[in-house]
Amino acid sequence: MYFDNAATSYPKPDCVPEQMVHYIKNIGASPGRGTYAAALEGDQLLYDTRKAICRLLHISRASNVVFTANSTEAINLAVKGILQPEDCVATTAIEHNAVWRPLKKMEQSHRVHIRTIGVSSDGTLDLAEAKRVLSQGCRLAVFIHGSNVIGNILPVQELTDLAHQYGALVLLDASQTAGAIPMDLTEIGADFVAFTGHKGLMGPTGTGGLYIKDGCVLDTLKEGGTGSMSVSPYSPEDPPDRYEVGTVNIIGIAGLYASVKYISEIGVDKICKQEQQLIKRLMVSLQDVENITLYGPGEKEERLGLLSLNIKDMTPYDAAKILDQKYGMMARAGLHCSPQAHRAIGTIQTGTLRISTGWFNTEAEIDQLAQALMEIAKERV
Ligand SMILES: Cc1ncc(COP(=O)(O)O)c(C=O)c1O
Repeated sequence: MYFDNAATSYPKPDCVPEQMVHYIKNIGASPGRGTYAAALEGDQLLYDTRKAICRLLHISRASNVVFTANSTEAINLAVKGILQPEDCVATTAIEHNAVWRPLKKMEQSHRVHIRTIGVSSDGTLDLAEAKRVLSQGCRLAVFIHGSNVIGNILPVQELTDLAHQYGALVLLDASQTAGAIPMDLTEIGADFVAFTGHKGLMGPTGTGGLYIKDGCVLDTLKEGGTGSMSVSPYSPEDPPDRYEVGTVNIIGIAGLYASVKYISEIGVDKICKQEQQLIKRLMVSLQDVENITLYGPGEKEERLGLLSLNIKDMTPYDAAKILDQKYGMMARAGLHCSPQAHRAIGTIQTGTLRISTGWFNTEAEIDQLAQALMEIAKERV
C-alpha cells in the first residue's frame, strides 16, 4: 500500500504510460524543430498541454506556462532570474529546500538579505507577522502554498495582496497544491507560480513548470537552441521560448497531458475532497492513541492530504521500516527536505513519519494503516 503521494503520486492513471508509449512509438519527433507532420504533432501536443494546464489552474494564456524539469528548476529560474545583488527577499519559516537552498545560495553569491516570516508552533502563519516582515520592503516574496511536512495551506491570496501592497513580486511554491486543491492563479494574482508534474498533477517525474504572469520578465537560467529566432546570438525575448532551451521532455509532457486531462475530467474539487477525507479519517482514528503525536492543523481545519506523526521512543525511520516490512505499507520518514518546517514545529531532531494520500487510496487502506500504527504504538507502552 502506497502512502507517499507527497513525494510522488503513485500509481499513475493508466492513460499516462499509454500516452507516453504512444508518443515514443508512433510520433517520436522533437517539437519546435521540424516542419514535417510528426514534428508538428509534437508542437501541437506541447501547446495542448500548456492549454490544459491553463484551464486547470485558471491561467489566461498558453505562453504564461514554461515547462521545466520539476518545481525545483522552476523556483531556481524565478529566484535567480529576479534577485539582484543586495536585494531583500521575504519568505516563510516552513519552506522546502527547493526554495530555501536557492535563497541561501543567493545570500552567499549575491549578498541577498533573507527576511523570514515566522510561524506558530503548529505551523500557522499569522498575517500580522507577514505584514511586519513585508512592510520592511523587498524585491521578492516567496510563499509555500501548502506545507509538505505540516499539511497546512497558507492564505496565499492575502499574502500576495500584502506583498504587492509593499512593492514585492510574488513567487508561489505550488508543488504540493497544483492538482491537489482547487486553484485560480488569475484570482490569486501571484507573479510566478512553480509547480511539479509528478505529485498532485499525477504525471511523470521530470515534468513541471513555472507560470509567469503577463509583463513579468526573468533573466534566463540557461541559454541555447529553441528552434526559433535561430539567427540571433541571444535568447528570444518572448516566453515560453526564452526559458525553454534545448529539446524539451516531450515524452514526459505527453504523460503530463494525459494526467491533466484525467484530473480535469474527475475535477480537482472531487480529488481534493477525497484525499482530505481520507487523511481526516486517519486523524480521527489516531488522535487519542497513546504514544502517537500528530502534527499540524486539527481534524476540523483545512489541510492537504498529508499527516506528519511520531510514535513515542521510536524514530520515524524505524516506524517506516516496520510499516514496510511487516505490513507492506510505504510511508516516508525523516525531514522531507524541509528542515525549516521541522524547526518550526519542534521536530528537527527526529523528523516525522509522513503519511500522504492520493486519488487511488481507499478508506479500507486507511483503516488498515491506522490499525498498523496503533499496533506499533501499543508495543511501546
Ligand atoms: C513544498 C515543496 N516544494 C518543492 C518541492 C520540490 O519538488 P520537485 O522535487 O518536483 O522539484 C517539493 C517536493 O517534495 C515540495 O514538497
